[in-house]
Amino acid sequence: MVKTRKIDKALFKGFSKLTREERFERLVALGALTPADIHHLQQTTNPELTALAENFVENVIGCFPLPLGVATNFCIDNHDYVIPMAVEETSIIAAASRTARWVHEKGYISTEIAGDTIIGQIQIAKVKNFSAFKAIIEVHQQALIQAANKEVIPNLVARGGGVERISVRNLLRNDGAVMAVVHVMLNPCDAMGANVITQVCEFLRGPIQALTGETVTMCILSNLTDTKITRAKVVLHNIDPAQGEAIMEASLFAEMDPYRAATHNKGILNGIDPVLIATGNDWRAVEAGIHAYAARSGQYKAVSSWRMQGSDLIGHFAAPVSVGTVGGVTCLHPTAQLSLRILNVSSANELSRVIAAVGLVQNLGALRALTSEGIVKGHMKLHINNLVLATDATQEEKIIIKKQLEDYLSLNAKITLSDATTLLAKLRAEQVAS
Ligand code: HMG
Repeated sequence: MVKTRKIDKALFKGFSKLTREERFERLVALGALTPADIHHLQQTTNPELTALAENFVENVIGCFPLPLGVATNFCIDNHDYVIPMAVEETSIIAAASRTARWVHEKGYISTEIAGDTIIGQIQIAKVKNFSAFKAIIEVHQQALIQAANKEVIPNLVARGGGVERISVRNLLRNDGAVMAVVHVMLNPCDAMGANVITQVCEFLRGPIQALTGETVTMCILSNLTDTKITRAKVVLHNIDPAQGEAIMEASLFAEMDPYRAATHNKGILNGIDPVLIATGNDWRAVEAGIHAYAARSGQYKAVSSWRMQGSDLIGHFAAPVSVGTVGGVTCLHPTAQLSLRILNVSSANELSRVIAAVGLVQNLGALRALTSEGIVKGHMKLHINNLVLATDATQEEKIIIKKQLEDYLSLNAKITLSDATTLLAKLRAEQVAS
């Protein structure tokens, strides 16, 4: 059925200039909010945070609080960490903590970063003469770098960062013309660097046009930061050979099949995204970078691999994980600041390495469960609380239903919301009958 709701667009006029109270009034008039919704938004949102949110995003009506938990038992590069994770999904934090303990008991986690620059792109949609364009940029490379470093980012340069290299690529278009792309490689130090690199590229638009006579069509960072790859390695000694083989087979599946790779990588991102969110980092950017890196061969693949070597199980993760510990929401959001204090990291690179390690450990936790008891048992055991919450059970009924659902799960190895509602209906019928 085609949906044909029409709303009075006049009510959106000037919406962005309204106060929050006025926005509420308009949304009630639009039929988008009820007075009960407004009460909910006001009750559930800390007023200070909502005021802060007005600085972060537009048209704010409230905040959406996510659970913040901590994963335990992580020892990365011989250093212990408490890992803050902001996430709504059951069993992620439990699995990370359980698996980190396993790794700590049986082996170790090591990490490293290769490269230090992020990438900005300057597009010349239809270059008149690619060879001449490339030659001019190469001849003036150092002058362009120096101008950008001096004019746009002198403070970053003083901290040891700045533009390091410029290169030129050509892309063949379907219409026979050539697209030129200038890549600007910049070391952002402890910032994620998205705004800085884009400002540098926009600054370079003028000099590039003046030098080459070509027309720059757009400037923006690339999230495929393959100039800075974060690696994590997990080693488990003396592992049960059957268990190790099974995890290796699960890995091979994800390395060969894009359908499986998507879910395998989702399992890695189960660990990565919650730390990004907790620390106020741009998780869409990191996700985009990881997925693009996963598809760099032309086929979407796993960004981790697991192999048995003798009696050791060894896992590797490699992908761009471009994060910041200064700048943006990281510095402004009090919970992001708190999360960084919990992590106690001293640089963006350290944060990136920790995040990669959490992703790889999370991956191992899921593969262990998938290749042994199955994912349902552990995940659903913890998900029972959500199922109970989704019914209209009273506090007393919740306790009884939760126990019944646990028994049901261990008996049937499956469970759904309708099982919860059926058990609740049965309980109520029994209470009426007695
Ligand atoms: P268990 O062995 O029953 O746990 O595992 P336990 O009760 O014996 O406790 C052992 C340790 O696990 C605890 O130690 C905790 O570290 C942790 P302790 O703190 O007691 O010293 N732990 C918990 N931590 C906090 N709260 C809890 C909790 N329970 C255990 N309530 C567990 C239970 C769920 C951990 C296990 O079954 C498991 O690891 N399952 C895998 C779950 C998982 O991977 N979930 C992710 C979501 S599923 C998904 O989206 C990804 C997927 O599609 C990816 C893919 O396909 O590759 C699967």
